[in-house]
Amino acid sequence: MTSLPYPIQYQGSKINLASEILRFLPNRVERLVEPFSGTAAISIAVSDKAISQNFSINDLNKPLVELLELIVEKPDEIANAYAEIWNEQHDNSVEHFYQARERFNKTNNPKLFLYLLARCVKGAVRYNSEAFFNQSPDKRRKGTQPEKMRKNIEGVSRLLKGKCIFTYLDYKDVLAEVRNSDFVYIDPPYQGVCGNRDSRYYSRINFDDFVVAIKELNRKKIMFVVSYDGKRGNKIFGKELPEELRLKKLKFKLGYRLKQHY
Ligand SMILES: C[S@@+](CC[C@H](N)C(=O)[O-])C[C@H]1O[C@@H](n2cnc3c(N)ncnc32)[C@H](O)[C@@H]1O
Repeated sequence: MTSLPYPIQYQGSKINLASEILRFLPNRVERLVEPFSGTAAISIAVSDKAISQNFSINDLNKPLVELLELIVEKPDEIANAYAEIWNEQHDNSVEHFYQARERFNKTNNPKLFLYLLARCVKGAVRYNSEAFFNQSPDKRRKGTQPEKMRKNIEGVSRLLKGKCIFTYLDYKDVLAEVRNSDFVYIDPPYQGVCGNRDSRYYSRINFDDFVVAIKELNRKKIMFVVSYDGKRGNKIFGKELPEELRLKKLKFKLGYRLKQHY
């Protein structure tokens, strides 16, 4: 478990792998770019170790990026909003979750999103085919206590305030703009977990496009690490990345594999 401040529950988060991942970064980098930032776990860890002072945080999930921006830039506002929503739960917290979920699906309000993620099963983001958030509440827990949430929010804000650019573009648009002095941490969604559509995230990425984007990073001599595919039991998710990308493969417990360009 990490000692880093970490307010957003999110399946696929690399917070517990952050120290392993950081071993492959130089001591200092001009800017860290996360094209699939999710909860920005690696940016949080990189700032904590003072490896960089500049961060480009991008994820296709707009309310998630807006939530991160609030946490970083307006910690009081989001901590107060969380406490207010959390305290509305009273006795009927399951019903309250469904009401909050309905409000979120109408408004995409990032403040409601924080509560839903804290309160839903395994912090797992699931969307139906109309892109409505449809994850169920965890019936055994009420979600992080507001005071604990506030501490985590303030901790992240202390590490990242005034140092980030937030965008919600497709990763290809972000990679097209990276510079030689950047370090890029690439953590795409798993491939092929749920047939044709990975309902855990907004989109699945196309394998061939992804390979082209990595090739281009190699050509431009950009430093990067890719977390790619996973293994659960004997089952491996995801097609292997081609040899021609010259990636060094490292395996980690939790089923993640990390690939580093050398
Ligand atoms: C494995 S998660 C990243 C987790 C992150 N490293 C963390 O620690 O929280 C993959 C992320 O990619 C995002 N995503 C999916 N398709 C994308 C795309 N085409 N461009 C940018 N982000 C995308 C998802 O919304 C999801 O947050």
